[in-house]
Amino acid sequence: MEDKIATRVREMRFSGIRKFFELVQKAEDIISLGVGEPDFPTPEPIKDAAIRAIENDFTSYTSNYGILELREIIAEKLKKENSLNYDPEKEIIITTGVSEALDLAIRAILNPGEDILIFEPCYVSYRANVFLSHGNPIPVPTYEEDGFKPIPEEIEKRVTKRTKAIIICSPNNPTGTVLNKKDLENIADIAIEHDLIVISDEIYEKLIYDGEKHHSIGSLNGMRDRVITLNGFSKVFSMTGWRLGYAASNEKIIEAMMKIHQYSMLCAPTISQYAALEAFKAEKYVKKMIETYDMRRKLLVKGLNSISGITCVMPKGAFYAFPSIKNLGMSSEEFATLLLKEAKVAVVPGSAFGECGEGYIRCSYSVSREDISEALARIENFVEKVINNARKI
Ligand SMILES: Cc1ncc(COP(=O)(O)O)c(C=O)c1O
Repeated sequence: MEDKIATRVREMRFSGIRKFFELVQKAEDIISLGVGEPDFPTPEPIKDAAIRAIENDFTSYTSNYGILELREIIAEKLKKENSLNYDPEKEIIITTGVSEALDLAIRAILNPGEDILIFEPCYVSYRANVFLSHGNPIPVPTYEEDGFKPIPEEIEKRVTKRTKAIIICSPNNPTGTVLNKKDLENIADIAIEHDLIVISDEIYEKLIYDGEKHHSIGSLNGMRDRVITLNGFSKVFSMTGWRLGYAASNEKIIEAMMKIHQYSMLCAPTISQYAALEAFKAEKYVKKMIETYDMRRKLLVKGLNSISGITCVMPKGAFYAFPSIKNLGMSSEEFATLLLKEAKVAVVPGSAFGECGEGYIRCSYSVSREDISEALARIENFVEKVINNARKI
């Protein structure tokens, strides 16, 4: 049967995260810092709006672009919070999560054999989506000593005639890096000079700490029509299972994305769209979640740094820490596998996010304080044993 599977799909690797989670599911008494989703319930007003939508029989297909009322609310939000001006009628599309928006954006612009630059370590779907669209994902490595920020010369070096676009993600999964205005201006200059599209994944936009500020690259001079801004409800509003996201860009690009979406998805889930009408009013719930993440972030990073052999920079956004285990003399996959087996703590090996993620592990702080404390104690114990064993050899 193997020969019946498309070559591209056969050549693809399974996500390093998924592979790990299959192991986690088989084991007992595990504390998982491997999760990539909020541990809070969806805010009540959003849930109530979904129940009302069902009671009112708002259960049929919507416009391919999504319900206009939601697009209007999103247009207002983008204008007020992101200084982005897009027409809700033609320049915004509601999608089945950012996952679909990302896939549509790539498929709408990419011809076979064209390149898309990706800053690694990065979210696992970027590479896979470009590959599935018959394009070439071109990694641009970023390093801890640069705060995991892309260096303009490293981007320039990889731009060729084949380059079509750059994907950026700030705040970043897995590093928690937040790109400031200057970082974005550097990327924008390159995009303008070489006539590139920028796909900007802003899904963690509000999960940001220490007074850092989120900027949208689409708001910079000359960028409006060459940026596809992706955002959604999963992370900030704790709505991963509702499968709702959106994209904003110039009319031609959004129309091209809609063309694919109308044949693949038809429309985003209707009940979720009605529920999302209440999301931007749920600020007080979001504020509380951010405060809680912030407390956990400090607890986790302080704890990791107190373990001899591990160092961790303070992440500025999202809900992940990305500590270095380079001093421990094993690969990130070996470390994660042994940690799971011997200490019953699940983390994701940094190599799952690109080659330059080797030597790091991703620990999510989207878990309770108690679980973070217990996980830290287990990791410390485990690392002590690793160091002692190394001394004996
Ligand atoms: C950076 C990033 N983008 C997109 C997604 C997918 O989000 P959604 O649930 O909206 O499809 C994730 C999920 O983990 C993510 O981390």
